[in-house]
Amino acid sequence: MTTLSFPFLRAMEKPKRSINRLETSAPLAQLPENLSAERVLEVQHYTNRLFRFTITRPASFRFRAGEFVMIGLRTADRPLMRAYSIASAPSAEALEFYSIIVPDGPLTSRLCRIKPGDEVLMARKATGTLVLDALTPATRLFLVSTGTGFAPFASILREPETYAKFKQVIVTHTCRDAAELRYSADVVNALPDDPLVGEAAAFHVMRYATCTRGSCQRRGRITDLMQSGKAFADMGIAPLSPAHDRVMICGSLGFNHDMQALLMRAGFTEGSNAAPGEFLVEKAFVG
Ligand SMILES: Cc1cc2nc3c(=O)[nH]c(=O)nc-3n(C[C@H](O)[C@H](O)[C@H](O)COP(=O)(O)OP(=O)(O)OC[C@H]3O[C@@H](n4cnc5c(N)ncnc54)[C@H](O)[C@@H]3O)c2cc1C
Ligand SMILES: NC(=O)c1ccc[n+]([C@@H]2O[C@H](COP(=O)([O-])OP(=O)(O)OC[C@H]3O[C@@H](n4cnc5c(N)ncnc54)[C@H](OP(=O)(O)O)[C@@H]3O)[C@@H](O)[C@H]2O)c1
Repeated sequence: MTTLSFPFLRAMEKPKRSINRLETSAPLAQLPENLSAERVLEVQHYTNRLFRFTITRPASFRFRAGEFVMIGLRTADRPLMRAYSIASAPSAEALEFYSIIVPDGPLTSRLCRIKPGDEVLMARKATGTLVLDALTPATRLFLVSTGTGFAPFASILREPETYAKFKQVIVTHTCRDAAELRYSADVVNALPDDPLVGEAAAFHVMRYATCTRGSCQRRGRITDLMQSGKAFADMGIAPLSPAHDRVMICGSLGFNHDMQALLMRAGFTEGSNAAPGEFLVEKAFVG
């Protein structure tokens, strides 16, 4: 893991159209009213395809834990924007994001080069389905993620209302290899020191991390580990039941689909902002 140092990026495939600081900061296009120009505060790379960064927060910007917002960069013709889950707590001063680097990706092949002081564009409104208000009351909250799908759950874990609503919070994170699990470990390990949620989180959060291709402590897809009951046996907790559990799902399309099917077989019903229910789903990316 590196902080503000990018030696490995030199070895990465160059973006098709390279970008430099002039290109990102020059007022090439008029900014639409629904976007604000923010500044990068901090950048931390975890692997050659994963990094987190924080940006300034406009005073008027409000969001609920678990929501996403469009962020991006200025380009010559128009702002290049993508959906990003906000990883920070709704009360945080700075906004944190956790990002993939797609070598040929229009946005992330450029975004991976941001440094403190650079400009990042952000929409003025956040939205999303992974919000506490869209779940009916219960005892345990399961946050089930793959890849960058953990990002909205970082926000929910940092939100005091989570612990007012649920007695136990179980967050699962599955990636291809152990290095890709580091961000979720860092977020969960820092919770006990968080002035807002520290006491509650120290006693009520459980993290269950697995990888599927490299070597790590626990192997396997979370869907298989839940289906067989191994995940619950490993954690020493009762299996999922709509009687006492609520679930949020965030990952790839295939994962979302399989996890949703597993829950529906167990008798869970899907909720939404308009009609709260027993589980919620959101894509971590399209495609
Ligand atoms: C609701 C929502 C929330 C999102 N939140 C995040 C987030 O918090 N962090 C984040 O990194 N991305 C997130 N994404 C994906 C993000 O919007 C972009 O797709 C991503 O930043 C890549 O942009 P790009 O222009 O470089 O490539 P794109 O042209 O957008 O994507 C190219 C291809 O890369 C793959 N891909 C894209 N994003 C991911 C990803 N996150 N993980 C694995 N493969 C991916 C897909 O196969 C996609 O077809 C979210 C997407 C949605 C719909
Ligand atoms: N991660 C990398 O090192 C890497 C490198 C280069 C390119 N990419 C590309 O980046 C894109 C996304 O990769 P990613 O690793 O972030 O996401 P991903 O392929 O969705 O995998 C993330 C985790 O989710 C698991 N998973 C996938 N489908 C599932 C399902 N239906 N049910 C349960 N678990 C499921 C994967 O297990 P499995 O391993 O069993 O699929 C893996 O542990 C892909 O298009 C990939 O080709 C990834």
